[in-house]
Amino acid sequence: MSTPRDSFSSKFGVIAAAAGSAIGLGNIWKFPYIAGENGGGVFLLVYLIFIVLVGIPVMMAEFIIGRRAHQNVFGAFRTLSKSRRWRIVGIMGVLAAFFILSFYGTVASWTIEFLTLAVKNSFEGQSAEQIATMFNNFSSSTWKPLIYHLVFMAMTAIIVIGGIEKGIEKYTKILMPLLVVIILYLDINAVSLKGGFEGIKFLFFPDFTKLTPTLFIDALGHSFFTLSLGMGVLLTYASYFKKDTNLTNTSISVATADTIIALLAGVAIFPAVFAFNTEPTAGPGLVFITLPNIFEQMPGGYIFSILFFLLLGVAALTSSISILEVVVAYLAEEHKISRTKATIIASSAIFATGVLCTLSFGPLKNVHIFNWTIFDALDKIASNILLPLGGMFISLFVGWKLNKRIVFGELTNYAGIKIKFFNLFLFITRYLAPISIFIVFLNGIGILKF
Ligand code: PFF
Repeated sequence: MSTPRDSFSSKFGVIAAAAGSAIGLGNIWKFPYIAGENGGGVFLLVYLIFIVLVGIPVMMAEFIIGRRAHQNVFGAFRTLSKSRRWRIVGIMGVLAAFFILSFYGTVASWTIEFLTLAVKNSFEGQSAEQIATMFNNFSSSTWKPLIYHLVFMAMTAIIVIGGIEKGIEKYTKILMPLLVVIILYLDINAVSLKGGFEGIKFLFFPDFTKLTPTLFIDALGHSFFTLSLGMGVLLTYASYFKKDTNLTNTSISVATADTIIALLAGVAIFPAVFAFNTEPTAGPGLVFITLPNIFEQMPGGYIFSILFFLLLGVAALTSSISILEVVVAYLAEEHKISRTKATIIASSAIFATGVLCTLSFGPLKNVHIFNWTIFDALDKIASNILLPLGGMFISLFVGWKLNKRIVFGELTNYAGIKIKFFNLFLFITRYLAPISIFIVFLNGIGILKF
């Protein structure tokens, strides 16, 4: 992405880059833990409905704007509309990117620690309690998490400065399928655990008594987070798409791949949660305290645990570069500073905020913002407020503001493809998506109660 107006070389390259951004800690770390906190199956159901009815159409909307404008998120709204109001979407996107990367780095630091533990074979012979203690001791300490967090941010910044995303793309094509294979192997071992089937029931059978108002906003927020929607990441990637990229099929492929990986992660984690008597509501540490228990018991567990945490780190990196890019593109293009300088400023400021997130599991755990720890507060503000509102504006922009001929043209590649769903798409972007986002949002912040 460092060479502006480049385009992706192959169809698979397009999907790989967008999927590289979408597939990350959100699928493997965040999905299981918020599904666990929200009752499992019923959360999954609401989340899947949001992915189909809101996520995919909003992704198509981002693609339409990005490819049409051939610009970053600010430039795109500036080019496509004279009104300054739409630039608010860009401002919200930058703020969301800033917040998300701050806490993303904290979780990435846990991944690095667990990679080193895996290499040292530290899970062997440990009970479930001992593994949970390892996680808690590490995450609540001060220096080591901060150092790993710094290492992760530095790697993200170096990639963004060096512009070697192309190289990363090449590795991603091999490494992400490998991650899927490892998770599948974990799945097989997890479901054959004694008592593991309870976990499958928990994830796939909805218990409607667990429906709460916060479930809706958590599910909506997570569908945006996991698909990298609402802050212009995919809009920016689409500005590099070629004329013959099929926007609808690309959206569906990315959303499908992303959802499958989240489900596969859930199938590995929940059986282990039940088999080893962990609480599904254990919170952000859930993946880290459950998976080592399976590695510890399965054939080849040593090698697989190393590969797993390594690839989880790579998946985090291909997402974090896309997040940093939003802030860097904004600083570089709107404030006319060099890319390198912009990257250094952005990543340093994000790391400074990230320090507070990392310490909110230890020395700062009693500091609360609206009843949340600093880590949770930044997550909730970005994922449950900024991303859905950004997505709502993007949807409204395509539904109402952008010329219908352009929308139709982008979806059909200016007559290259036939489509039958245009009116449905307009209905969703005009009414269904924005109204449902708004209702869930008002409900989530407590203005509307149901
Ligand atoms: N989608 C990424 C994940 O699931 O880990 C995180 C993310 C990337 C969120 C880019 C938002 C974003 F714009």
